[in-house]
Amino acid sequence: MVEVIDHKRQGQVLTPAEINFFVEGVVTHTIPDYQISALLMAIYFQGMTSEEQTTLTMAMMNSGDHLDLSAIPGVKVDKHSTGGVGDKTSLPLAAMVAALGIPVPMISGRGLGHTGGTLDKLEAIPGFQVARSEAAFINQVKTTGVAIIGATGEVAPADKRIYALRDVTDTVDSIPLIASSIMSKKIASGTDALVIDVKTGAGAFMKDESAAKELATALVQIGRQAGLVCKAIISDMNQPLGNKVGNTLEIEETLDLLKGHGPADLLELVLTLGSHMVVMGGKATTLAQGREMLAATLTDGSALAKFKAMIEAQGGNGQVVTDYALMPHAKYQVSFFAPQSGVITSLSADGIGIAALMLGGGRQKADDQLDYGVGIELHKKLGDEVKAGEPLLTIHANQTDLTEVKARLAASITIGSAATVPPLIHQVIE
Ligand code: URA
Repeated sequence: MVEVIDHKRQGQVLTPAEINFFVEGVVTHTIPDYQISALLMAIYFQGMTSEEQTTLTMAMMNSGDHLDLSAIPGVKVDKHSTGGVGDKTSLPLAAMVAALGIPVPMISGRGLGHTGGTLDKLEAIPGFQVARSEAAFINQVKTTGVAIIGATGEVAPADKRIYALRDVTDTVDSIPLIASSIMSKKIASGTDALVIDVKTGAGAFMKDESAAKELATALVQIGRQAGLVCKAIISDMNQPLGNKVGNTLEIEETLDLLKGHGPADLLELVLTLGSHMVVMGGKATTLAQGREMLAATLTDGSALAKFKAMIEAQGGNGQVVTDYALMPHAKYQVSFFAPQSGVITSLSADGIGIAALMLGGGRQKADDQLDYGVGIELHKKLGDEVKAGEPLLTIHANQTDLTEVKARLAASITIGSAATVPPLIHQVIE
C-alpha cells in the first residue's frame, strides 16, 4: 500500500492491479484508515485519468451487490441528480418517460440536510413502500413500467468506507472521488442508459460552472467506459427548483405538473432531461420529437395515470392524486412578507433549504424523523417584482415559534433594483 500511495503522490497513473488491490483492502479492512486517507489525499492533489476513474468505479461497484435487469425487455433508462433544493424532478420525469413505454427502474436515495430525498418525498404518500425486493422491483417495472425504490442490497460498500474517510480528511470535493462514488452506485443499479443532472450555483455541491462541467464530463466518461449510454445536463441551483420545498408539498407540485399546471422551471427541466431519455430509450429520433411526446403525456393524462399506477403498485393510496388532503399537512400556514418594494435579486436555495430543515422537513442526522407536512411555498422567484408588504412565501409549520426560521428566510432573500437571472439549463455534456 505504501508503494501505491507513493506512485500517486508522485503523480503516476495507477495500474488496474493497484486500484483493485486498494479497493479490496478497503472492503476486507486489510488496509488501515490512515493509508486509505493518505491515498485519498494523494488523489485529491494529483487527480486521476479517465481510465483510472473507471477502474476505481468498477472496483467499488463490484465490491457490493448489483442488479441484473436483463429480465426487463427494452432499453432501461434512469436519471441521477447531484441534488438541490425543491428538486422533485425524478418524480414527474419517471412517470412521463414510462408513459411512453420506456422502462424506468429507478433506485433513489434519502436526503441528508435540506429537505428529504426522492424516497422521503414518496413516503409522504400514505402507504407508499420504498423497500422492495429485487424480484418485486423487476416485476413492477415489467408490469407497470416504472418503480422508484431504495437500494435492494449492500451497494458499493467500498464507497461507504471511503466516503466516511473523505468526510473527515477534507477530500470530499475531488472530482475523481465524487465521480467514482456516484457512478459506482449508479452502475450497480443495472440501467442501460443514464441522464445525469449536475447542479451548479450557490445551492449546489458544485458552486461554479467550470467545476460542474468537469464533474459532468468525468461522470459521462465513466458511464460510457462502463458500457452505459450516458449524458449530463448542467442545470441551475442558485434558487430552489419549482415553487414548493418540503415532502408533501413536493408531491403536490409533482401532481400539479402531471395535470399540466406545474411551475415553468420544473417543467422545462423535466422536458430537457426527459427528451434525452426518450431518445436514449429509442422512442424518438430527435430531442424535439421526444419533447413533444412528453408534453403529450401531460395533456392526455397518461403520465398522471402512470404515477397513480406506480403509487398503487408500491402500496400507496392512489386517491392522493385527486385528494391532496390525504397526505400529511402542517397545522399552520404563515405568510412571510416583503420588507420593501423592488425586484428579487437573490433567493438562496441553500437558505430556503435550511429553513425547511429547521421546520423538520429534512434530516441533520441519518436517523432523524421527518415531518412530511412542513416546508416553504414560494410566491416569487428570482427577477420577480414585489411590493412592500406583499407575501413572498408561505411557511408551512407545525410549530408556533418561527423566529429563527424567519431570520433564516430574511437572510436568504434580497430585494434590489435589477436582477440577473441565470439560465436554467447551462450546458449539455454529450
Ligand atoms: N454523492 C455521492 O454519492 N458521492 C459523492 O462523493 C458526492 C455526492
